Amino acid sequence: MIRRRKAIAGEKNEEDTMRSAARYREARPSLFASLFVVLAVFVIGVHGLKDISIDIPLAVAAGTTVNMSCGYDLESDTLYVMKWYYKGSEFFRFVPKEMPPTSTFGELGNKVILNKSDAHRVVLRDLQPNYTGKYLCEVSGDSPSFTTLVDVGYMHVANLPKGDPQVRFEKIRYAVGDTVRGNCTVPSGNPPANVTWTVNGVPVNSSFIMNVTDKLGDNQQLMSIAGLDFEIIPDSFSNGRLHIVCNANVFHLYKKQADVRLMEERPRLASVLGTRESSYIGGAAIQIKEWFLDAAVTLLLCSFR
Ligand SMILES: *[C@@H]1O[C@H](CO)[C@@H](O)[C@H](O)[C@H]1NC(C)=O
Ligand SMILES: *[C@@H]1O[C@H](CO)[C@@H](O)[C@H](O)[C@H]1NC(C)=O
Ligand SMILES: *[C@@H]1O[C@H](CO)[C@@H](O)[C@H](O)[C@H]1NC(C)=O
Ligand SMILES: *[C@@H]1O[C@H](CO)[C@@H](O)[C@H](O)[C@H]1NC(C)=O
Ligand SMILES: *[C@@H]1O[C@H](CO)[C@@H](O)[C@H](O)[C@H]1NC(C)=O
Ligand SMILES: *[C@@H]1O[C@H](CO)[C@@H](O)[C@H](O)[C@H]1NC(C)=O
Ligand SMILES: *[C@@H]1O[C@H](CO)[C@@H](O)[C@H](O)[C@H]1NC(C)=O
Repeated sequence: MIRRRKAIAGEKNEEDTMRSAARYREARPSLFASLFVVLAVFVIGVHGLKDISIDIPLAVAAGTTVNMSCGYDLESDTLYVMKWYYKGSEFFRFVPKEMPPTSTFGELGNKVILNKSDAHRVVLRDLQPNYTGKYLCEVSGDSPSFTTLVDVGYMHVANLPKGDPQVRFEKIRYAVGDTVRGNCTVPSGNPPANVTWTVNGVPVNSSFIMNVTDKLGDNQQLMSIAGLDFEIIPDSFSNGRLHIVCNANVFHLYKKQADVRLMEERPRLASVLGTRESSYIGGAAIQIKEWFLDAAVTLLLCSFR
């Protein structure tokens, strides 16, 4: 339409080269005419191609086949070209007027399954994590409007952890006042798994989260380790038990749990006298110290009465 407008202005110039005054008088109507064309095209455009909407998965596992679709409403327009881009580079094009209508470009173009891809869809096989990122579809209507619409979406291609999460805790029995310390390790993947904890069904924050690099060829893989560290209060136990669950998720693609049941250790005189298993001597020693402190404070208070 811009070309059309220039052409009108050009004809006028040739006709009116000798009569500059007249040219200025006529410039106004020609400008209005041009504006009218622009407006008309704009209005026609609004009634043509519309409602573009990209539909790609949020995340897929590496190596799988992915359907990407791009919906649009042509209304009275006809399709001129449908293009797909990844990170700004075109990888697939569909032009109904050409034979064959499909063309592909670049490394990602080689992954297009041509006989499953068309004016609304592109199907890609064997995607690897380096194809995580922004995808764009662009649709253009044919003449007279040549309206072009785009929509974008972001897709993660994930290397999922190979294996289950594992929990490790310092010990099994705890008394009120003890600190529960443990961690949950999820095998490496890219991106690393999200790790969360619940204790008797109640969410508890991790004390730390680490992503540990584990290089594997070109793909950087990360192992997740989350720590749990909390002090037991009288309400912590449910029927003398703590059910601790570590949840590991990678989008909707990997959802696994590891759990452990810890037990309440009721204070007994025997434990104060040091008959606990030797491996828990650290915890017991602290308790003995506290018991003596309590006893000392009690004696002190008594002596003041
Ligand atoms: C892709 O689309 C085709 C046809 O619509 C369907 O049969 C297939 O299951 C889809 N594949 C995936 C991975 O969604
Ligand atoms: C698509 O092409 C492949 C070979 O490139 C062929 O094996 C497959 O049968 C074709 N599928 C359809 C639906 O035409
Ligand atoms: C993506 O990674 C694969 C290996 O997983 C490699 O062969 C390919 O060259 C990489 N492509 C790009 C664009 O980095
Ligand atoms: C995880 O817990 C185990 C057992 O308590 C411990 O040996 C290990 O050092 C812990 N690892 C980290 C990273 O905290
Ligand atoms: C857990 O972490 C969130 C976000 O960092 C914070 O808002 C919340 O207060 C924390 N909860 C506890 C019990 O520390
Ligand atoms: C671990 O990696 C994820 C994704 O790469 C990132 O969002 C998160 O902040 C990282 N966590 C830590 C503790 O480095
Ligand atoms: C981790 O959780 C955050 C917040 O819910 C989410 O945005 C992100 O996509 C998750 N990452 C993975 C790898 O599941």
